[in-house]
Amino acid sequence: ELKYNDALKPLAWLFGKWRGEQGRGKYPTIQDFSYTEEAEFSPIGMQPNVEFKLYSFKPDTNAPMHRETGFVKIKPGTNHIAFVAAHNLGVIDIQEGEVSGQELNVTSHSVGRTTFNKDPIVKVTKRRLKRINDELELVMEMETDKTELTEHLRITYTKI
Ligand code: HEM
Repeated sequence: ELKYNDALKPLAWLFGKWRGEQGRGKYPTIQDFSYTEEAEFSPIGMQPNVEFKLYSFKPDTNAPMHRETGFVKIKPGTNHIAFVAAHNLGVIDIQEGEVSGQELNVTSHSVGRTTFNKDPIVKVTKRRLKRINDELELVMEMETDKTELTEHLRITYTKI
């Protein structure tokens, strides 16, 4: 049985390994695309912290696409959470928000990038994760210096 810090109870519905087969990506400036994704959320010992990874792939060839790894932190005794994430794009973001029931919503307050990232500049990222029975739904929106806050990703994962 998985043991973890009591402070993480509000996030327990997220723990484990997930796989999404029919990810849909879009943005006003790009062509729609499909992807698959492996997601994993694991508490770190008895810390009030969870490590996560999101690895996405091209459905036809399995070639790696976007990768994101980081930590979900909870302010102990509250529903206030933070996603601290590093992306292979050369972007890092810190998103904060609330977990309530089997749903969480976080919005970035800081986004960093390398000096040599491609345009456009990511200004804001937003993530919604919601568990419905044995499925997990994700919607990701982003704002860049060229485009207002718009959906970029949508995927449903099932538990593996
Ligand atoms: C395009 C950011 C996740 C696949 C973009 C663009 C940005 C971006 C800034 C360029 C948009 C434009 O030209 O206006 C992000 C961020 C992500 C994320 C911050 C996570 C928080 C993903 C994931 C995938 C993905 C998970 C694939 C599974 C793509 C593709 C394009 C794109 C295929 C278009 C081609 C390209 O410009 O490389 N993304 N993305 N992105 N993204 Fe994402």
